[in-house]
Amino acid sequence: MSSSALEEELTTEYEDWTNLFLPRTAQILKSTPLTATDTLHRLRFQNGDIGDYKPGQFVMVSMLGIGEVPISICSSPTHIGGFELCVRSAGTVTQAINELNAGALVPIRGPYGRGFSTEKMVGHDVMIIAGGIGLAPMRSLIQYLLDQRSQYGEIWILFGAKRPGEVLFQDEVLSWSSRPDIHFLMTVDIANRAWRGNVGPVTSLFHYVKVDPHNTCAAVCGPPVMYRPVLRELQHLELPDAQMFFSFERRMKCGLGKCGHCLINGHYCCKEGPVLSYAEIRELPEAM
Ligand SMILES: Cc1cc2nc3c(=O)[nH]c(=O)nc-3n(C[C@H](O)[C@H](O)[C@H](O)COP(=O)(O)OP(=O)(O)OC[C@H]3O[C@@H](n4cnc5c(N)ncnc54)[C@H](O)[C@@H]3O)c2cc1C
Ligand code: FES
Repeated sequence: MSSSALEEELTTEYEDWTNLFLPRTAQILKSTPLTATDTLHRLRFQNGDIGDYKPGQFVMVSMLGIGEVPISICSSPTHIGGFELCVRSAGTVTQAINELNAGALVPIRGPYGRGFSTEKMVGHDVMIIAGGIGLAPMRSLIQYLLDQRSQYGEIWILFGAKRPGEVLFQDEVLSWSSRPDIHFLMTVDIANRAWRGNVGPVTSLFHYVKVDPHNTCAAVCGPPVMYRPVLRELQHLELPDAQMFFSFERRMKCGLGKCGHCLINGHYCCKEGPVLSYAEIRELPEAM
């Protein structure tokens, strides 16, 4: 297909873009490299707003002729005028997305899935535990909570990165760490000479945490290897199962509960999740 024909196809306005299966065309407004492998893309749909969504929900991003991938929305629904995706180059599709520049047109389906229950968190203290690229969906939640700061109690952010150079959203991380109304704790797995902070897994930060478990909700997103140790720490703090929320990653194709690629013991991760409470998954051996 010629590039002009492709552009024409991409700019076709779908009559009924509320059909959940259809992609809508988004334009990249800005692409900002954050690390050697991660790029933050700011986008806007050509035919309207992204609509309402919850932190933790995801979209399906297409690269025509290459493939389609699930990516979490990393900006808060309270920030209007576009939305942001932070993409790590992991393989062919994500690499192709990160090669796009401002002006590029991208077919996107969604938002899909169930995000973090920000209503349940109202009036509670909130503990956010993020590892690596897991900070992307958590940034949406953090921005959301900070935009409605008075509705929430204490906010704890426990963030673990592999190395200091791999920290995403460095300017925001710096501003969170200096806010008096946030308990911000950070660690790296492998320090460099300049690093003065904590070294070790994200679980090593729990040592500093003091919360009232019955009034606290926890939100967790990171590499799968992090989940069991984090769960143990949250159980040690005696958080109720229904107040611990985990965002799960599974291979996804349709994103809508049709193909079965994302099943966790018969549950559709794309539709019932990706965010599920521990009360919902504790009986599912495939979850963690
Ligand atoms: C709900 C959800 C939200 C996500 N949010 C983000 C995000 O905000 N930013 C981001 O960069 N990535 C995110 N991902 C992961 C992203 O979808 C995968 O990195 C992408 O599908 C890889 O596709 P690829 O063609 O580039 O690489 P491939 O060639 O398909 O794979 C490259 C490597 O990544 C692994 N991989 C592929 N898909 C997944 C997956 N779903 N889970 C774990 N490992 C995978 C493969 O095993 C392989 O090792 C998310 C995944 C899910 C399910
Ligand atoms: S990705 Fe198809 S059912 Fe979940």
